[in-house]
Amino acid sequence: MTFEWGDLFAGRISGMAASEIRELLKLIDRPEIISFAGGIPDPDLFPSAAMARAYEKIFQSNAGAGGALQYTISEGYTPLREWILGYMEGKGVRLGLDEVLVTSGSQQALDFIGKLLIGPGDLVAVTKPTYLGALQAFSPYEPRYVSIAMDDEGPVLADLEAALAARPKFLYLVPDFQNPNGVTVSADRREAIVALCAAAGVAIVEDAAYAELRYDGEALPSLAAIDAARNGGRPATVIHCGSFSKTVVPALRVGWVSAPRDVVNRLVLMKQAADLHTSTINQMVLHDVVSQIFEPHVKRLRVAYKERRDAMLAALDAHMPKGVTWTRPQGGMFVWIELAPGRCGVALLERAIKEANVAFVPGAAFFADRSGANTLRLSFSATKPDRIREGVRRIAGLLETVEA
Ligand SMILES: Cc1ncc(COP(=O)(O)O)c(C=O)c1O
Repeated sequence: MTFEWGDLFAGRISGMAASEIRELLKLIDRPEIISFAGGIPDPDLFPSAAMARAYEKIFQSNAGAGGALQYTISEGYTPLREWILGYMEGKGVRLGLDEVLVTSGSQQALDFIGKLLIGPGDLVAVTKPTYLGALQAFSPYEPRYVSIAMDDEGPVLADLEAALAARPKFLYLVPDFQNPNGVTVSADRREAIVALCAAAGVAIVEDAAYAELRYDGEALPSLAAIDAARNGGRPATVIHCGSFSKTVVPALRVGWVSAPRDVVNRLVLMKQAADLHTSTINQMVLHDVVSQIFEPHVKRLRVAYKERRDAMLAALDAHMPKGVTWTRPQGGMFVWIELAPGRCGVALLERAIKEANVAFVPGAAFFADRSGANTLRLSFSATKPDRIREGVRRIAGLLETVEA
């Protein structure tokens, strides 16, 4: 009998396809490459000193160090959950402690939500494009996807209504400066989405990973806040995922999920099964850092990233050939480019790396229905303005030769 691991893999593994662009992106880890591929925060902006002080404080306190290095409860470090409660209340959502679970990044919350809500063949509504990591988290639970078109105010309502008629379990949405296309759902559209989903008995999973990184305009109410306002201040039909990865640091791996108690109770059971709890010391450090510096630190990030967003938009305006369009995000980390129909983002990436030492992510991976071959995601967050200008000029140069 021959032994084949592949014969032993569970059927759901077929839903976990390796990304075809990963091999290409392995080539970009060279200093001469200007990379817009990452979608990561700039390490020069990490609050390293505040974090060092927080670790030191913990280790200097005998009682604290013991507790910090010990197992803790699955729900999360209580002072951190209390901080999250205060933060959410400031945004119009009144939660009890048992309505918040700390997760190992918001990515873990997406996995748990998939595990909680998706059975094989269940329908999940997503936008096109949507966050690739959400598709990766949900797909092992073997959903079918219904994809909703977007315009510059968010999901197109006629498409949403058609999707809701097919009775998906939930709609997954990134309302602020969406990864990958930078689109922000307008205030009216938010109200309509919450009302339509509630009327159809469809839950909403709101991913607010970028919500704090707004560079222009007024902050808009979260879907969780709209849901709460319709229900006496309490969460009802929206599961809200938050993250400290973009506002503090990703490496601590701390995020959270808030939802009605019945939902959180189940998610806590999943947390126990997955990893018992998120690192105790990381939660304590994060709590110390956000208690000391959250607001001023986020303000500093906004100033730095706004300058980069502006540099990228100005460079696109100056250099891009006719037939290419792009979004003008009010925040976040991404600009989304649409090439003329028939152009291929993957082919352009191959040339960009080999001929121009510049990289980005081709957009097709962000579509559950595999459309979007002529799209690109450019991240401006981890690149300084001069390099942004030069990188955009190089991409435009390549396009001049193929688009003409
Ligand atoms: C939209 C969105 N959601 C969730 C995540 C996961 O973030 P984390 O697990 O670091 O909180 C990311 C990371 O890039 C993201 O872009």
